Amino acid sequence: MLQQVERVREEALAELKQVRDTAGLEAWRVRYLGRKSTLMQAFSRIKEVPSEERPAVGRRINEIRDELTQAYEAKREALQREALQQELAKRLDVTLPGRPFSPGRVHPSTRTIRRILQIFSEMGFQVFRSREVELDEYNFQLLNIPPHHPARDMQDTFYVDTGSEGDTYPVVLRTHTSPGQIHAMRFYASLNPDNPPPIRVVLPGMCFRYEQITARSEIQFTQIEGLVVGRHVRFSDLKGTLSDWARRMFGPRVRTRFRASHFPFTEPSAEMDVECFLCGGEGCSVCKYTGWLEILGCGMVHPTVLRNGGYDPEKYTGFAFGMGPERITMLLHHIQDIRYFWANDLRFLQQFE
Ligand code: PHE
Repeated sequence: MLQQVERVREEALAELKQVRDTAGLEAWRVRYLGRKSTLMQAFSRIKEVPSEERPAVGRRINEIRDELTQAYEAKREALQREALQQELAKRLDVTLPGRPFSPGRVHPSTRTIRRILQIFSEMGFQVFRSREVELDEYNFQLLNIPPHHPARDMQDTFYVDTGSEGDTYPVVLRTHTSPGQIHAMRFYASLNPDNPPPIRVVLPGMCFRYEQITARSEIQFTQIEGLVVGRHVRFSDLKGTLSDWARRMFGPRVRTRFRASHFPFTEPSAEMDVECFLCGGEGCSVCKYTGWLEILGCGMVHPTVLRNGGYDPEKYTGFAFGMGPERITMLLHHIQDIRYFWANDLRFLQQFE
């Protein structure tokens, strides 16, 4: 019997060397270490051995079983290691070309806003942030916009349903950045109510209007508001500041012109045009053959608005302006349709560095 198990041992070890995969290994285990294997059967047949030889034979069978079990474990680990290495080799090929990394990019409106703010900061303005969800009071009333002004119409304003009773909606999505004028003035006035400090701020942000979406108007758009308040601030300061800004923005030789206009919160009010930087004033499709591009609304802060902001209109004057970065971006890049800005079409967005 001993000879028989010794032969089985040799055969098993030789065969184990030939095993190449886990299925083969399992078959090997069943054959040599399974319950019906010659080796395991030998345990029950041990009583056939003469009793004086039994201990030695038993020990030897035990040894062989342990040896085969160990060999089996070693083979199993070797196969696992091999499989892992093959898997890694499949996954990692250092000769493959690298995948291009896409870091994303700044939205074209944001680019324009940053450039505009950069220029104003060089001119001594600070950025003042103001909320997008506003009280009707700030968006309209404090800006001298009377209750029946067309801008308040349901057609133009998103009213926020706060669940309050009645048909008055005190909360709106701001329709322009001008309510920030009141916030800025009240903030600076609060620093020293008896002698409020001068103000020089720009206020960028998103605005919303309930409008038919067309190539020229969107329900959301950004604006940049500007506000300067101080003693002896005059209309010539407004003209000088904005003309200087336009030259830094569009080129050192660009000319500007101011046309009379109307806003409830400024008096007098104006609109500023810049000479068309695409045709140099010759006339082209972008400036509709006028040679001029309308860039912003502006004016001297209305005395009522100054008072609402905590500044005594007898002692202080100021000017304000508001411009649309999308419109300016459209002019700069010859973009024909404002809807591209919020459509999230990568083919559009990827054209801007
Ligand atoms: N708020 C005005 C608009 O949305 C622009 C403006 C701002 C005009 C400040 C004058 C002064 O059209």
